Amino acid sequence: MADLSVTVDGLKLPNPFVIGSGPPGTNANVIGKAFDENWGAVICKTVSLEADKVINVAPRYARMRAAGTKEVIGWQNIELISDRSFSIWEDEFKQIKDKYPDRVLIASIMEEYNKDAWTEIVERCQACGVDAFELNFSCPHGMPERKMGAAMGQDVELLEEVCKWVSAAAKVPVWAKMTPNITHIVDPARAALRGGCEGIAAINTILCVMGIDLETLRPEPTVEGYTVPGGYSCKAVRPIALRMVMELATMMYGSDGTPGEFPDRSLSAIGGVESGEHAAQFILMGASTVQVCTGVMIHGYKLAGQMCDELSAFMDKHGFESIEDFRGHSLQYFTTHADLVRRQAEAKAAQKAAREGMVTKDTAWEGDKFVEQSAKLVANED
Ligand SMILES: Cc1cc2nc3c(=O)[nH]c(=O)nc-3n(C[C@H](O)[C@H](O)[C@H](O)COP(=O)(O)O)c2cc1C
Repeated sequence: MADLSVTVDGLKLPNPFVIGSGPPGTNANVIGKAFDENWGAVICKTVSLEADKVINVAPRYARMRAAGTKEVIGWQNIELISDRSFSIWEDEFKQIKDKYPDRVLIASIMEEYNKDAWTEIVERCQACGVDAFELNFSCPHGMPERKMGAAMGQDVELLEEVCKWVSAAAKVPVWAKMTPNITHIVDPARAALRGGCEGIAAINTILCVMGIDLETLRPEPTVEGYTVPGGYSCKAVRPIALRMVMELATMMYGSDGTPGEFPDRSLSAIGGVESGEHAAQFILMGASTVQVCTGVMIHGYKLAGQMCDELSAFMDKHGFESIEDFRGHSLQYFTTHADLVRRQAEAKAAQKAAREGMVTKDTAWEGDKFVEQSAKLVANED
Protein backbone atom coordinates (compact mmCIF):
# COMPACT_ATOMS: atom_id res chain seq x y z
CA MET A 1 0.00 0.00 0.00
CA ALA A 2 1.43 3.36 -1.06
CA ASP A 3 2.43 5.92 1.57
CA LEU A 4 0.47 9.13 0.87
CA SER A 5 2.04 11.18 3.67
CA VAL A 6 3.96 14.32 2.75
CA THR A 7 6.44 16.43 4.69
CA VAL A 8 6.64 19.88 3.16
CA ASP A 9 8.55 22.82 4.66
CA GLY A 10 8.66 20.81 7.88
CA LEU A 11 4.86 20.39 7.96
CA LYS A 12 3.70 16.78 8.25
CA LEU A 13 0.52 15.98 6.30
CA PRO A 14 -1.19 12.55 6.28
CA ASN A 15 -1.90 13.02 2.57
CA PRO A 16 -1.26 15.74 -0.06
CA PHE A 17 -4.89 16.93 -0.24
CA VAL A 18 -5.34 20.46 1.12
CA ILE A 19 -8.55 22.48 1.39
CA GLY A 20 -7.89 25.54 -0.80
CA SER A 21 -8.81 28.96 0.57
CA GLY A 22 -12.51 29.69 0.07
CA PRO A 23 -15.91 28.62 1.42
CA PRO A 24 -14.74 25.10 2.44
CA GLY A 25 -12.47 26.69 5.10
CA THR A 26 -14.63 29.63 6.09
CA ASN A 27 -15.17 28.98 9.84
CA ALA A 28 -14.18 26.62 12.67
CA ASN A 29 -17.17 24.38 12.06
CA VAL A 30 -16.33 23.53 8.44
CA ILE A 31 -12.57 23.38 9.11
CA GLY A 32 -13.29 20.77 11.82
CA LYS A 33 -15.39 18.81 9.32
CA ALA A 34 -12.45 18.85 6.87
CA PHE A 35 -10.08 17.45 9.50
CA ASP A 36 -12.65 14.82 10.51
CA GLU A 37 -12.82 13.72 6.86
CA ASN A 38 -9.00 13.37 6.83
CA TRP A 39 -7.97 16.28 4.61
CA GLY A 40 -4.17 16.59 4.72
CA ALA A 41 -4.33 20.28 5.71
CA VAL A 42 -6.74 23.19 5.63
CA ILE A 43 -6.13 26.71 4.34
CA CYS A 44 -8.74 29.03 5.81
CA LYS A 45 -10.76 31.53 3.79
CA THR A 46 -8.55 34.63 3.40
CA VAL A 47 -8.66 36.84 6.50
CA SER A 48 -7.73 40.50 6.96
CA LEU A 49 -7.57 42.83 9.95
CA GLU A 50 -10.50 45.01 8.84
CA ALA A 51 -13.38 42.71 7.97
CA ASP A 52 -15.92 45.53 8.10
CA LYS A 53 -14.56 46.77 4.77
CA VAL A 54 -15.57 43.44 3.19
CA ILE A 55 -19.18 43.46 1.96
CA ASN A 56 -20.37 40.50 -0.08
CA VAL A 57 -23.32 40.39 -2.47
CA ALA A 58 -25.75 37.65 -3.54
CA PRO A 59 -25.96 35.92 -5.90
CA ARG A 60 -22.21 35.74 -6.22
CA TYR A 61 -21.66 32.47 -8.12
CA ALA A 62 -22.46 31.33 -11.67
CA ARG A 63 -21.93 27.83 -13.03
CA MET A 64 -21.11 26.40 -16.45
CA ARG A 65 -22.46 22.89 -17.13
CA ALA A 66 -21.26 20.44 -19.79
CA ALA A 67 -23.69 20.52 -22.73
CA GLY A 68 -26.76 18.38 -22.13
CA THR A 69 -25.69 17.19 -18.65
CA LYS A 70 -25.81 18.32 -15.04
CA GLU A 71 -22.02 18.09 -14.73
CA VAL A 72 -20.50 21.38 -13.53
CA ILE A 73 -17.30 22.16 -15.41
CA GLY A 74 -16.80 25.87 -14.71
CA TRP A 75 -17.58 28.07 -11.71
CA GLN A 76 -17.46 31.86 -11.46
CA ASN A 77 -17.41 33.69 -8.15
CA ILE A 78 -17.49 37.37 -7.28
CA GLU A 79 -16.99 36.59 -3.59
CA LEU A 80 -14.60 38.71 -1.54
CA ILE A 81 -12.32 37.52 1.27
CA SER A 82 -13.77 36.62 4.69
CA ASP A 83 -16.28 39.12 6.06
CA ARG A 84 -15.91 37.69 9.59
CA SER A 85 -14.15 39.85 12.19
CA PHE A 86 -10.47 39.14 12.80
CA SER A 87 -10.99 38.71 16.55
CA ILE A 88 -13.50 35.91 15.86
CA TRP A 89 -10.93 34.29 13.58
CA GLU A 90 -8.34 34.51 16.38
CA ASP A 91 -10.69 32.63 18.72
CA GLU A 92 -11.46 30.04 16.06
CA PHE A 93 -7.80 29.47 15.12
CA LYS A 94 -7.13 28.73 18.81
CA GLN A 95 -10.18 26.45 19.11
CA ILE A 96 -9.20 24.49 16.00
CA LYS A 97 -5.58 24.05 17.13
CA ASP A 98 -6.78 22.98 20.62
CA LYS A 99 -9.05 20.34 19.10
CA TYR A 100 -6.69 19.22 16.29
CA PRO A 101 -3.16 19.91 17.60
CA ASP A 102 -1.49 17.53 15.14
CA ARG A 103 -3.28 18.74 12.03
CA VAL A 104 -1.95 21.45 9.72
CA LEU A 105 -3.90 24.73 9.74
CA ILE A 106 -2.70 27.37 7.28
CA ALA A 107 -3.85 30.98 7.57
CA SER A 108 -4.56 32.70 4.26
CA ILE A 109 -3.93 36.39 4.83
CA MET A 110 -4.28 39.59 2.81
CA GLU A 111 -3.59 43.23 3.63
CA GLU A 112 -3.11 46.53 1.88
CA TYR A 113 0.40 47.79 1.02
CA ASN A 114 1.32 48.60 4.62
CA LYS A 115 4.20 47.02 6.54
CA ASP A 116 2.59 47.46 9.97
CA ALA A 117 -0.63 45.77 8.85
CA TRP A 118 1.18 42.75 7.35
CA THR A 119 3.41 42.43 10.42
CA GLU A 120 0.44 42.69 12.79
CA ILE A 121 -1.67 40.08 10.99
CA VAL A 122 1.27 37.63 10.88
CA GLU A 123 2.08 38.07 14.56
CA ARG A 124 -1.54 37.80 15.70
CA CYS A 125 -2.22 34.68 13.59
CA GLN A 126 0.89 32.87 14.74
CA ALA A 127 0.12 33.72 18.36
CA CYS A 128 -3.02 31.59 17.82
CA GLY A 129 -0.93 28.60 16.74
CA VAL A 130 -1.42 28.50 12.96
CA ASP A 131 1.12 26.21 11.30
CA ALA A 132 1.87 28.24 8.17
CA PHE A 133 0.74 31.19 6.06
CA GLU A 134 -0.51 31.52 2.52
CA LEU A 135 -0.28 35.10 1.22
CA ASN A 136 -3.20 35.93 -1.01
CA PHE A 137 -1.64 37.90 -3.88
CA SER A 138 -4.19 36.59 -6.25
CA CYS A 139 -7.91 37.26 -5.78
CA PRO A 140 -8.90 38.89 -9.08
CA HIS A 141 -12.01 40.82 -8.12
CA GLY A 142 -13.13 43.27 -5.45
CA MET A 143 -9.90 43.55 -3.50
CA PRO A 144 -7.74 44.95 -6.36
CA GLU A 145 -9.83 48.11 -6.01
CA ARG A 146 -7.89 48.53 -2.70
CA LYS A 147 -4.58 47.48 -4.36
CA MET A 148 -4.89 44.10 -2.63
CA GLY A 149 -4.89 40.52 -3.95
CA ALA A 150 -4.14 40.18 -7.66
CA ALA A 151 -3.26 43.88 -7.94
CA MET A 152 -0.36 43.22 -5.56
CA GLY A 153 0.47 39.89 -7.21
CA GLN A 154 0.84 41.57 -10.60
CA ASP A 155 3.32 44.13 -9.26
CA VAL A 156 6.58 42.23 -8.89
CA GLU A 157 8.45 44.87 -6.87
CA LEU A 158 5.60 45.47 -4.44
CA LEU A 159 5.14 41.73 -3.98
CA GLU A 160 8.81 41.13 -3.18
CA GLU A 161 8.77 43.88 -0.59
CA VAL A 162 5.64 42.48 1.10
CA CYS A 163 7.17 38.98 1.12
CA LYS A 164 10.24 40.40 2.87
CA TRP A 165 8.04 42.05 5.55
CA VAL A 166 6.11 38.82 6.09
CA SER A 167 9.20 36.59 6.12
CA ALA A 168 10.82 38.85 8.71
CA ALA A 169 7.81 38.51 11.03
CA ALA A 170 6.83 34.87 10.36
CA LYS A 171 8.21 32.02 12.48
CA VAL A 172 6.34 29.41 10.40
CA PRO A 173 6.53 28.58 6.66
CA VAL A 174 5.06 31.06 4.19
CA TRP A 175 3.59 30.24 0.75
CA ALA A 176 2.78 32.95 -1.78
CA LYS A 177 -0.38 32.31 -3.83
CA MET A 178 -0.05 33.44 -7.42
CA THR A 179 -2.58 34.97 -9.77
CA PRO A 180 -2.92 33.39 -13.23
CA ASN A 181 -4.04 36.77 -14.56
CA ILE A 182 -0.54 37.67 -15.70
CA THR A 183 1.54 36.93 -18.80
CA HIS A 184 4.50 35.22 -17.08
CA ILE A 185 3.58 33.59 -13.75
CA VAL A 186 7.22 32.80 -13.00
CA ASP A 187 8.08 36.51 -12.56
CA PRO A 188 6.04 37.16 -9.39
CA ALA A 189 6.88 33.64 -8.12
CA ARG A 190 10.58 34.36 -8.43
CA ALA A 191 10.09 37.66 -6.59
CA ALA A 192 8.18 35.94 -3.77
CA LEU A 193 10.91 33.30 -3.36
CA ARG A 194 13.62 35.99 -3.46
CA GLY A 195 11.58 37.79 -0.79
CA GLY A 196 12.00 34.75 1.49
CA CYS A 197 8.81 32.70 1.03
CA GLU A 198 9.24 28.95 1.52
CA GLY A 199 6.79 28.00 -1.20
CA ILE A 200 4.50 28.95 -4.06
CA ALA A 201 0.83 28.10 -4.44
CA ALA A 202 -0.87 28.38 -7.85
CA ILE A 203 -3.32 29.13 -9.27
CA ASN A 204 -6.07 31.37 -8.00
CA THR A 205 -9.10 31.98 -10.21
CA ILE A 206 -8.94 33.23 -13.79
CA LEU A 207 -10.65 36.55 -14.46
CA CYS A 208 -13.84 35.86 -16.42
CA VAL A 209 -17.33 36.81 -17.52
CA MET A 210 -19.47 33.68 -17.28
CA GLY A 211 -22.09 34.67 -19.83
CA ILE A 212 -24.93 36.98 -20.80
CA ASP A 213 -28.62 36.16 -20.29
CA LEU A 214 -30.07 36.48 -23.79
CA GLU A 215 -33.55 37.35 -22.46
CA THR A 216 -32.55 40.17 -20.11
CA LEU A 217 -29.29 41.02 -21.95
CA ARG A 218 -27.63 41.23 -18.50
CA PRO A 219 -24.33 39.49 -17.68
CA GLU A 220 -24.35 36.80 -14.95
CA PRO A 221 -24.25 36.70 -11.96
CA THR A 222 -26.58 39.70 -11.91
CA VAL A 223 -26.87 41.83 -8.77
CA GLU A 224 -29.64 44.40 -9.15
CA GLY A 225 -29.13 44.15 -12.91
CA TYR A 226 -25.38 44.74 -12.86
CA THR A 227 -22.23 42.63 -12.39
CA VAL A 228 -18.41 42.67 -12.27
CA PRO A 229 -15.97 40.25 -13.90
CA GLY A 230 -15.30 37.36 -11.52
CA GLY A 231 -12.90 34.48 -10.90
CA TYR A 232 -13.18 31.23 -12.88
CA SER A 233 -12.43 27.86 -11.27
CA CYS A 234 -13.40 24.15 -11.43
CA LYS A 235 -12.49 21.47 -14.01
CA ALA A 236 -12.35 23.87 -16.97
CA VAL A 237 -9.30 25.67 -15.53
CA ARG A 238 -7.23 22.51 -14.89
CA PRO A 239 -5.28 22.53 -18.19
CA ILE A 240 -4.29 26.16 -17.60
CA ALA A 241 -3.31 25.40 -14.01
CA LEU A 242 -1.24 22.40 -15.13
CA ARG A 243 0.61 24.58 -17.64
CA MET A 244 1.34 27.25 -15.05
CA VAL A 245 2.45 24.71 -12.41
CA MET A 246 4.72 23.17 -15.06
CA GLU A 247 6.29 26.58 -15.74
CA LEU A 248 6.76 27.26 -12.04
CA ALA A 249 8.26 23.82 -11.35
CA THR A 250 10.63 24.14 -14.29
CA MET A 251 11.84 27.50 -13.00
CA MET A 252 12.15 26.27 -9.40
CA TYR A 253 13.47 22.73 -9.89
CA GLY A 254 15.05 22.88 -13.36
CA SER A 255 14.65 20.42 -16.18
CA ASP A 256 16.69 18.43 -18.67
CA GLY A 257 20.03 19.11 -16.98
CA THR A 258 19.36 22.83 -16.41
CA PRO A 259 19.46 23.48 -12.65
CA GLY A 260 16.45 25.09 -10.99
CA GLU A 261 16.60 28.48 -9.33
CA PHE A 262 14.93 27.37 -6.06
CA PRO A 263 15.37 23.60 -5.72
CA ASP A 264 14.53 23.52 -2.00
CA ARG A 265 11.28 25.49 -2.08
CA SER A 266 7.81 23.95 -2.26
CA LEU A 267 4.99 24.07 -4.76
CA SER A 268 1.29 23.64 -3.95
CA ALA A 269 -0.92 23.11 -7.00
CA ILE A 270 -4.50 24.34 -7.34
CA GLY A 271 -7.09 24.33 -10.10
CA GLY A 272 -9.91 22.01 -11.07
CA VAL A 273 -8.90 19.00 -8.97
CA GLU A 274 -11.72 16.55 -8.21
CA SER A 275 -10.01 13.15 -8.26
CA GLY A 276 -6.86 11.29 -7.27
CA GLU A 277 -5.93 11.08 -10.95
CA HIS A 278 -6.12 14.87 -11.29
CA ALA A 279 -3.90 15.22 -8.23
CA ALA A 280 -1.40 12.68 -9.59
CA GLN A 281 -0.98 14.87 -12.67
CA PHE A 282 -0.10 17.94 -10.60
CA ILE A 283 2.37 15.89 -8.53
CA LEU A 284 3.93 14.62 -11.76
CA MET A 285 4.36 18.34 -12.60
CA GLY A 286 6.35 18.92 -9.38
CA ALA A 287 3.73 19.80 -6.72
CA SER A 288 4.08 18.37 -3.20
CA THR A 289 0.53 19.21 -2.21
CA VAL A 290 -2.70 19.67 -4.16
CA GLN A 291 -5.44 22.07 -3.10
CA VAL A 292 -9.15 21.72 -3.77
CA CYS A 293 -11.77 24.46 -3.38
CA THR A 294 -14.63 24.27 -5.91
CA GLY A 295 -14.50 20.45 -5.93
CA VAL A 296 -15.48 20.47 -2.24
CA MET A 297 -18.35 22.88 -2.96
CA ILE A 298 -19.70 20.42 -5.54
CA HIS A 299 -18.92 17.02 -3.96
CA GLY A 300 -18.52 17.71 -0.21
CA TYR A 301 -15.78 16.92 2.31
CA LYS A 302 -15.83 13.15 1.74
CA LEU A 303 -13.98 13.79 -1.52
CA ALA A 304 -10.69 13.48 0.42
CA GLY A 305 -11.22 9.78 1.16
CA GLN A 306 -12.14 9.04 -2.44
CA MET A 307 -9.14 10.98 -3.80
CA CYS A 308 -6.79 9.16 -1.40
CA ASP A 309 -8.07 5.80 -2.68
CA GLU A 310 -7.65 6.88 -6.31
CA LEU A 311 -4.17 8.30 -5.77
CA SER A 312 -3.14 5.20 -3.87
CA ALA A 313 -4.39 2.95 -6.72
CA PHE A 314 -2.42 5.01 -9.26
CA MET A 315 0.74 4.71 -7.14
CA ASP A 316 0.30 0.94 -6.63
CA LYS A 317 -0.18 0.44 -10.36
CA HIS A 318 3.15 2.12 -11.10
CA GLY A 319 4.99 0.75 -8.08
CA PHE A 320 5.46 4.20 -6.51
CA GLU A 321 5.83 3.86 -2.74
CA SER A 322 5.81 7.54 -1.82
CA ILE A 323 4.79 10.90 -3.31
CA GLU A 324 8.48 11.78 -3.74
CA ASP A 325 8.90 8.68 -5.93
CA PHE A 326 7.05 10.36 -8.79
CA ARG A 327 6.96 14.08 -7.95
CA GLY A 328 8.11 16.06 -10.98
CA HIS A 329 8.61 12.91 -13.10
CA SER A 330 6.76 14.24 -16.17
CA LEU A 331 8.57 17.58 -16.37
CA GLN A 332 11.34 15.91 -18.38
CA TYR A 333 8.94 15.31 -21.27
CA PHE A 334 8.50 18.99 -22.10
CA THR A 335 10.80 20.23 -24.81
CA THR A 336 10.93 22.75 -27.65
CA HIS A 337 8.94 22.52 -30.87
CA ALA A 338 12.19 22.28 -32.85
CA ASP A 339 13.13 19.22 -30.78
CA LEU A 340 9.73 17.62 -31.50
CA VAL A 341 10.36 18.09 -35.23
CA ARG A 342 13.85 16.53 -34.91
CA ARG A 343 12.54 13.55 -32.91
CA GLN A 344 9.76 12.95 -35.42
CA ALA A 345 12.19 13.03 -38.38
CA GLU A 346 14.49 10.55 -36.59
CA ALA A 347 11.61 8.22 -35.79
CA LYS A 348 10.35 8.33 -39.37
CA ALA A 349 13.84 7.54 -40.72
CA ALA A 350 14.15 4.59 -38.30
CA GLN A 351 10.68 3.29 -39.32
CA LYS A 352 11.62 3.55 -43.03
CA ALA A 353 14.87 1.69 -42.44
CA ALA A 354 13.05 -1.02 -40.51
CA ARG A 355 10.40 -1.33 -43.26
CA GLU A 356 13.14 -1.79 -45.84
CA GLY A 357 14.84 -4.40 -43.69
CA MET A 358 17.93 -2.27 -43.15
CA VAL A 359 20.02 -3.01 -40.10
CA THR A 360 20.29 0.14 -38.02
CA LYS A 361 21.50 -1.50 -34.80
CA ASP A 362 24.07 -4.28 -34.35
CA THR A 363 21.62 -6.38 -32.36
CA ALA A 364 19.48 -6.73 -35.52
CA TRP A 365 22.01 -8.83 -37.45
CA GLU A 366 20.73 -12.38 -37.98
CA GLY A 367 22.82 -15.39 -39.04
CA ASP A 368 20.30 -16.68 -41.60
CA LYS A 369 19.81 -13.28 -43.26
CA PHE A 370 23.38 -12.05 -42.97
CA VAL A 371 24.24 -11.76 -46.65
CA GLU A 372 20.87 -10.22 -47.54
CA GLN A 373 21.21 -7.74 -44.66
CA SER A 374 24.72 -6.81 -45.77
CA ALA A 375 23.53 -6.17 -49.35
CA LYS A 376 20.78 -3.82 -48.14
CA LEU A 377 23.36 -1.62 -46.50
CA VAL A 378 25.36 -1.11 -49.70
CA ALA A 379 25.11 2.37 -51.17
CA ASN A 380 23.78 2.63 -54.76
CA GLU A 381 26.19 0.98 -57.21
CA ASP A 382 26.70 1.88 -60.88
C1 LIG B 1 -16.29 30.79 -4.05
C2 LIG B 1 -14.80 30.90 -4.02
C3 LIG B 1 -14.17 31.69 -3.08
C4 LIG B 1 -12.78 31.79 -3.05
N1 LIG B 1 -12.17 32.55 -2.08
C5 LIG B 1 -10.83 32.60 -2.01
C6 LIG B 1 -10.18 33.30 -0.96
O1 LIG B 1 -10.80 33.86 -0.06
N2 LIG B 1 -8.81 33.32 -0.96
C7 LIG B 1 -8.07 32.69 -1.92
O2 LIG B 1 -6.82 32.73 -1.86
N3 LIG B 1 -8.66 32.00 -2.91
C8 LIG B 1 -10.01 31.93 -2.97
N4 LIG B 1 -10.61 31.20 -3.96
C9 LIG B 1 -9.77 30.54 -5.00
C10 LIG B 1 -9.50 29.07 -4.68
O3 LIG B 1 -8.78 28.89 -3.49
C11 LIG B 1 -8.71 28.40 -5.83
O4 LIG B 1 -7.46 29.04 -5.97
C12 LIG B 1 -9.44 28.44 -7.17
O5 LIG B 1 -10.83 28.38 -7.01
C13 LIG B 1 -9.00 27.30 -8.12
O6 LIG B 1 -9.14 26.04 -7.53
P1 LIG B 1 -10.47 25.10 -7.65
O7 LIG B 1 -10.72 24.87 -9.11
O8 LIG B 1 -10.13 23.86 -6.87
O9 LIG B 1 -11.58 25.88 -6.99
C14 LIG B 1 -12.00 31.08 -3.99
C15 LIG B 1 -12.64 30.27 -4.94
C16 LIG B 1 -14.02 30.16 -4.96
C17 LIG B 1 -14.67 29.27 -5.99
